[in-house]
Amino acid sequence: MSNILAFVSIKGGVGKTTLALETASSLANQYDKRVLLVDANFSAPNIGLYLDLTNDLTLHDALNGTMLHNVIYEAHGFDVIPASMNYHEDVDPYKLAQLLEKYKSRYDYIIIDSSPNYKELRPVIAAADKVFLVTSPDNVTLTTTMKAAEVAREQETPIEGIIVNKIRSPKHEFNLKEIETISEIPVLAKIKEHKKMAQALFEKSPITVLDSNNPISKEINSFASAICGSPEKTTWIDKFIPLKDVVQRERMNRNYLRERFYE
Ligand SMILES: Nc1ncnc2c1ncn2[C@@H]1O[C@H](COP(=O)(O)OP(=O)(O)OP(=O)(O)O)[C@@H](O)[C@H]1O
Ligand SMILES: [Mg+2]
Repeated sequence: MSNILAFVSIKGGVGKTTLALETASSLANQYDKRVLLVDANFSAPNIGLYLDLTNDLTLHDALNGTMLHNVIYEAHGFDVIPASMNYHEDVDPYKLAQLLEKYKSRYDYIIIDSSPNYKELRPVIAAADKVFLVTSPDNVTLTTTMKAAEVAREQETPIEGIIVNKIRSPKHEFNLKEIETISEIPVLAKIKEHKKMAQALFEKSPITVLDSNNPISKEINSFASAICGSPEKTTWIDKFIPLKDVVQRERMNRNYLRERFYE
């Protein structure tokens, strides 16, 4: 099974780190998967800050020869390789693929967070088996996200789908159909901007751990369920709306992804 998944976009602040870490948390805690989360934002990493990891050894050391097991830490039920904000030696980010390949069999999923910087994105896409694009539903962000799609296509790394994050004002933003028409890529999750994310940041905890009933947590759990081929958790409302899967594009797309897991 192809299990190295990268979350990418060319624009900063759209939610790559958030989605990478929440998906890692959901796969580990809701679906019992062995997960390694890797911060491959080489120049401006922040997974360590998100998860309150203050360890000295990081991905940068591993890229310069430190054994990988020395830079792996545990947080909230999954393993994490943080990166360094203060590393002074040069690193070759293209060694990432080789490093992770050795650890692939130890995990069900290796999730990579990436930088919005072109140069740093390429080695991440080279290391990934599949990528998920992260965008917000506005013209500026979607246009730059399509640049990330171009890089993945150039490198022949399959794009599994788009996650639309930070939906703020649907009246003034692209809807999912428009995003799919522009990108020709299926949307797999739609996530509203939610103030509870501030609490998750403050408490240095994934929101999927902090509040499993939050709409963001529910959508992430549904997305993660499709990745690992598990059924989507349904609520009593779903039973009354049997056509919800057909009506909601993201649910329908997740069903395709889920089915592909068994192919
Ligand atoms: N759905 C959301 N609702 C509210 N806040 C969010 C949401 N998604 C992400 N955020 C917040 O937006 C900020 C940026 O998110 P994040 O760090 O994940 O973006 P990024 O794409 O990784 O940025 P960078 O390119 O700089 O690494 C964070 O403060 C995060 O908590
Ligand atoms: Mg980030």
